[in-house]
This record gives sequence, structure tokens and C-alpha cells, in this order.
Amino acid sequence: MIVGLLTETFPNENRVALVPAAITVLAKSGISVLVESGAGTAAGYPDDAYREKEAKIATGRDEVFAQADVLVQVRAAGANPQSLSDDRSRYRHGQGVIGFCEPLAEAEASQQLGQQGVTLFSMEMMPRITRAQSMDALSSQASLAGYKAVILAAEALPQIFPMMMTAAGTITAAKVFVIGAGVAGLQAIATAKRLGAVVSATDVRPVVKDQVESLGGKFVFLDEIMAEGEGGYAKELTDGQKAKQQELIAQTVAESDVVITTAAIPGRKAPVLVTEDMVKAMPPGAVLVDMAAERGGNCELTQAGQTITTHGVTILGPENIPATVAHHASQTYAKNITTFLDHLVKDGKMEIDLEDEITAGTLITQDGDVKHPRVREILGLPKPQPEPEPESEGDDQPATETESAGKQDGEA
Ligand code: NAI
Repeated sequence: MIVGLLTETFPNENRVALVPAAITVLAKSGISVLVESGAGTAAGYPDDAYREKEAKIATGRDEVFAQADVLVQVRAAGANPQSLSDDRSRYRHGQGVIGFCEPLAEAEASQQLGQQGVTLFSMEMMPRITRAQSMDALSSQASLAGYKAVILAAEALPQIFPMMMTAAGTITAAKVFVIGAGVAGLQAIATAKRLGAVVSATDVRPVVKDQVESLGGKFVFLDEIMAEGEGGYAKELTDGQKAKQQELIAQTVAESDVVITTAAIPGRKAPVLVTEDMVKAMPPGAVLVDMAAERGGNCELTQAGQTITTHGVTILGPENIPATVAHHASQTYAKNITTFLDHLVKDGKMEIDLEDEITAGTLITQDGDVKHPRVREILGLPKPQPEPEPESEGDDQPATETESAGKQDGEA
């Protein structure tokens, strides 16, 4: 089987879907890799590094499309809409494509690729289950982004993070408040703590209290908010809970030099948790990094892709942070991709087992049709034929994983 590694064409997308070390791993599963020349350059992986691992370097993009059974990308379909028209004539019927695709926000783009006969897998839809952890690309990228968000905050803050006792006096440590203690948030807490800040964090899931505390953070939390969601994700709060959480957040925001917001509910717009009044109450020179900027922002003043200063506070709305640490982001993404390929490919052929939670959860299009139930719903397509639902007789189906796959689809 030939896997094609494409150069990313989205502006400032410096990552690459496979790093040279992955070539050796894939070779063990009988997979050879054809690399578009220059694919890894922006991430610090030159063509020669792939050649050393015995990957072939293609003369051009056309050759990769023409020869690859499966194309691997960081951004495909809706995550790079321009590529749909640029590469339109290159995709082949039956060709596999694996990458971030934005299948929920940009469902039409996935559908368009599906109509070209592409078998499309979306890395965003990877179920957050133990078995899929090493394929969870959202997490691998969010973790690095959480780290980088703190570095961005430190750079923008006219203060230092650690407490320092010097002959010229004592400097107090910066106070950092992280809103949302999921993957990105936990890494932000750890990073801010390493830099010497006094860190607090909040989340709607009480289960993360221990994790926050084990990283040295203080957990800011109202007992009555018990919004633990299914599948490790959060669900939406009631209005009463929202109001109480707002009060608590307002108090803590007003005392913080840095606020990093990472609150997210899968498949929905980011919840607005930091209002203009809260920003006004922050100390002069304070910094807010809104990691949810791309999803509408957790702060009502955030402008995606911009840094603004208002009411004396600097608000950053960075987009695509992982691309700014492309070397390691590519390394971890490549691990996700190779593990996923290993999961899908049996005896040198891609096998699509819809009974498998990971495969069914990530498959978006196949045989010219949109397969993913959630994406079909968004597109207003009828529900797929009820093929794998033999529940009527109530036996012989080892239903546990498949059932939770359905829930995960709904969640994601
Ligand atoms: P996650 O799902 O692991 O964590 C989100 C956390 O927010 C969860 O722990 C959830 O319980 C919490 N949450 C939800 N509603 C909340 C509320 N009302 N108050 C407090 N906490 C709440 O997500 P992950 O992977 O950590 O990503 C976080 C955000 O960062 C997402 O919006 C994601 O799109 C964004 N992100 C942005 C990047 C960028 O380049 N700007 C890169 C990676 C992630």
C-alpha cells in the first residue's frame, strides 16, 4: 500500500502529517510512503530526512495523488476549503484521505469530497476512549497549544511569572487563571506553574479537581455545578448554574494577571464566559489568551486571529497555535496518524469495519456517500439504512463499544 504525504497548502500551516521516523514504523506494516517534495520543510523535516528512511520523494503533487492509495494530511476538506478546488481534479475514486476535515462546521466540504468517491476519515472525530488515545490528534495538538498559550501570555505580560526576591526588592508571582481544564487547560496549568506563577483553574467537571491540584493549581469551583458529561466531555449548563459560575469566574478574573480560556463543548460554539465588564475589572496590563477564538471565543471581546488592547488589557485570539510549534506538533500528529493507519490497514489493505468504534466514529464519506450519522444530520440527509441495528432480537451483538460510538457521534 502506498501512503501519500502531501505538502499543506493552508496559509501558515507549517505542520506535516508524517515525520521521517514514521516511515520506518509504517514500513513494518507493509506501507510505503510517497512524499511530496518539501512537505516537511516548514516543520524542520527536509526531504533528505525522509530519503534516509527510504521514503520516495515525488516530483510533484500530481504524482502523489496519482499513486497513493491513501493521502495523509493535516488539513483536508473543510479544514482547507481552497484545496477542494485546487486539488479537485487530482482526487481518485476510492482514494482514502485522512486528516482534520472540520466535518461538523464545514459539512458540505466533506460531502463534496465524498461525491468524488473519496473515503474520508476525520481525525477530529476520533472517539475519546482509552483504546484511541494514541490516535487522538485533537488532544496531541491541544496539549502543545496549551503550553504555547502560556508562552504567548508571558510574552505579552509586562510582568514576570515567578516570585523573585532580589536586593532591589521582592517581586510577587503572577496570578494565572485557566478556564477549562481539559487537555489544553491542564497543559497550560502545568506550564504556568513551571514558570513560577500562582495558578488557579476552573471547569464544569468536578472530576478534574484532582488533576488541577496534582499540577499545583487551585481548583475554583462551585459544588452545585455538577455538569459531568458523557464520554469524558462536558455538557451544557443550566441557566442557574451558568449565572453562579459567572459570578465565581468574575471574582477570579478580576484578581488575575493572566487568564487563559480553553472552555469547549464538542460540536458547539465556545461558551462565552468572560464578559466586557470582567475584562474592565482586570488589573492594568493584564493579558487574556482566548484559545477558543476559532470557535467564537470564551471572551466576548476576542477577535479571532488578532491581538487587541482594550480597557488596558491585552486580549489574544490566536488561531492554529500548533502550527507555531510545528516540529513537535508534526511529531505527535504523525504518531496519531501512524497508529490510525495501523488500525485501519490489514495485510496491506484498508479494511473498513463499521462495527469498530474508532473506524465508524471517524469515517465521514465512502462510496460516494456521506456515512457519518452526525454529518448526514447536519446536511439534512436521511438517516442511513438501519444495517447494524439487530437489537430487536436482543442478543448476539457484543454491543458495548458500538453503542457508545453512537453516543460519541452525538457528543462530538
Ligand atoms: P477539551 O474538551 O479537552 O477541554 C475543554 C474543557 O472545557 C473541558 O474540560 C470542559 O469541561 C471545559 N468546559 C466546558 N464548558 C465550560 C464552562 N462553561 N466553564 C468551564 N469549563 C468548561 O478541549 P481541548 O482539547 O483542551 O481544547 C480546548 C479549546 O482550545 C477548544 O476550544 C479548542 O478548539 C481550542 N484549541 C485551540 C487551538 C488554537 O490553535 N487556537 C489549538 C487547540 C485547541
